[in-house]
Amino acid sequence: MTNVLLEKKGNIAVATINRPKALNALNSDVLTDLGELVDIVNADSEIRALVITGSGEKAFVAGADIGEMSTLTPEEGEAFGKHGNDVFRRIETLPIPTIAAINGFALGGGCELSMSCDIRICADTAVFGQPETGLGITPGFGGTQRLARLVGPGMAKQLIYTAKNIKADEALRIGLVNAVYPLEELMAAAEKLAETIAKNAPIAVRACKKAINDGLEVKMDDAIVIEEKLFGSCFKTADQIEGMSAFLEKRKHEPYQNK
Ligand code: CAA
Repeated sequence: MTNVLLEKKGNIAVATINRPKALNALNSDVLTDLGELVDIVNADSEIRALVITGSGEKAFVAGADIGEMSTLTPEEGEAFGKHGNDVFRRIETLPIPTIAAINGFALGGGCELSMSCDIRICADTAVFGQPETGLGITPGFGGTQRLARLVGPGMAKQLIYTAKNIKADEALRIGLVNAVYPLEELMAAAEKLAETIAKNAPIAVRACKKAINDGLEVKMDDAIVIEEKLFGSCFKTADQIEGMSAFLEKRKHEPYQNK
């Protein structure tokens, strides 16, 4: 991968979108590398949480590549959207938790990439928006769907119809991000959050992600059954036995083994 750099640090990994000259804009090559990232992370059982960020100090991702999109036919446009959507859906459904560390512009496909992660934190310099209607298109990598689910349809419609950008404090206010940090503190905060997650029992953490994601797609009677089954699946795992034994024996649990 040349457009996405992956660095493992113990049980966490940091993926950096690496196309700084174009403010990390997502062309087909970057999307393909993001697909490869998913394959690598899925194949590595040591990675328990993934941070995604952008290279440089200016942009997380400034959107899908406008140069590449500018000459597409309707059929090619649909296929480009499908490429992005397929990759982002694979990121969204990675079994492990994902954190977007938004270090600057997160526009169009950049905002959409952050929304395919479980948790968003950002720098005080971050700027969010869905500028697509100003370019003559709709959001194409899930923005119409995930933004409405995250911040509610009224606010999502306002952002998408107006194509106006918002700053970090407004993103925090509407619940698009969980926290804002000075730019120079962002990555340390993201890694600390990932490490905190990675210390908890990985099977249980993955089950929680699946329960929340799958449960949100069905009605409550079915959703609680999803939780029951995943709750049950944690019992008799080595980590459940150790976690509960440690509590009962009033000691700190041994590091969880992902078993
Ligand atoms: N696609 C292609 N290239 C891009 C890009 C994009 N989305 N965003 C930035 N770049 C390129 C610029 O063309 C420029 O390249 P050159 O140096 O070769 O001219 C380089 O990155 C630096 O950008 P600027 O000179 O424009 O930097 P700036 O600081 O003046 O402005 C910005 C920064 C406000 C983010 C501005 O670059 C911008 O508005 N970018 C486009 C943002 C946008 O509209 N994104 C949505 C795209 S549509 C989409 O994403 C659809 C979808 O949902 C799938």
